[in-house]
Amino acid sequence: MARAAITAVAGYLPDNIVTNFDLEKIIDTTDEWITSRTGIKQRHLENDPKKATSDMCVEAVKLLCKKRGITPEEIDMLIVGTVTPDYVFPSTSNLVCAKLGAKNAWGYDLSAACSGFLYGLSTGSQFIETGRYKKVVIVGADMMSRIIDYTDRTTCVIFGDGAGAVLLEPTTDDCGVMDFMLFADGNGCTHLHMKAGGSLNPASHETVDNKMHYVYQEGQAVFKHAVYNMAEVSAKIMEKNNLTAETVKWLAAHQANKRIIDATASRMGIGSEKVMMNIERYGNTTAGTIPLLLWDYEKQLKKGDNIILSAFGGGFTWGAVYLKWAYDGSVSGK
Ligand code: UT7
Repeated sequence: MARAAITAVAGYLPDNIVTNFDLEKIIDTTDEWITSRTGIKQRHLENDPKKATSDMCVEAVKLLCKKRGITPEEIDMLIVGTVTPDYVFPSTSNLVCAKLGAKNAWGYDLSAACSGFLYGLSTGSQFIETGRYKKVVIVGADMMSRIIDYTDRTTCVIFGDGAGAVLLEPTTDDCGVMDFMLFADGNGCTHLHMKAGGSLNPASHETVDNKMHYVYQEGQAVFKHAVYNMAEVSAKIMEKNNLTAETVKWLAAHQANKRIIDATASRMGIGSEKVMMNIERYGNTTAGTIPLLLWDYEKQLKKGDNIILSAFGGGFTWGAVYLKWAYDGSVSGK
């Protein structure tokens, strides 16, 4: 049976950078608080009101195609993990394919918040493993700035905008998506959700006046569940696949809070040299964090490297993917 291998990775971040010092000017916070509690120093936020999540996806996938030397017409399927789609419908995936000229692709959006990329990677890899398709693109992208209240210091310091994309192709080598463990618990909705804009509370003057179109998060409750579940699932997938702290080369964990990532690494027994980290530059880009990590670390990766990807987020959703990297270094430079 063929496995699904990642054969290229790319990303996109809006040009506009907002530092912790910039936020000090608009809300009651400090660079010291944000850095020590989260690890974040800056984030990229799209400031062009005409741009949306699909535009970030398009840039990431254009670069992906260029790096792999393929045309968008060669893509069979494109899945976008996002909670900030351009519209409720049509799907962002449909818009991205149209903008790219990916005429032969179909696809859909997948709503799993911070676990969106891992859900997408696991789902998309099935279409390769069954032999149905040869080129499946998985995008994780969120324009969080469009659903964040910039007067709420408990959420606005954390999130950023960004998109990352990978290309999945079949391989018969001993590499690719080796295993995944995914979970969901809708009871977590209480602690992390957006109150309006769906069928329960459609947009009205009242929902706007009551600021119901923004992320609502009970930080401490989410933190506790994230630390436990992300650490636990990362350790469990290692155990299930007979991996040890020595044989795991990298941890690519969702970038929500440096303290959650450190706790996960500690539970896995791995040192900080194996932990991919870019939260300081991008903040929490929700579905974007893991592919953006792979993009940033691509040059350091070697064929056969055992990588654990893990995430926790809104839903609650969480899980881990065991990936064996499929190529050496950067496909064609960044
Ligand atoms: O990716 C999706 C999943 N999300 C997550 O994984 C996020 C998980 N949660 C967290 O990362 C953390 O809970 C936060 C970073 C959101 C908050 O950190 P915390 O250490 O849990 O802080 P806290 O909510 O317990 O607040 C501690 C204090 C409070 O003040 P008092 O009540 O002790 O006087 C807050 O009002 O810090 C205050 N505070 C701030 N102070 C300065 C909250 N936000 C800020 C801020 N600047 N931005």
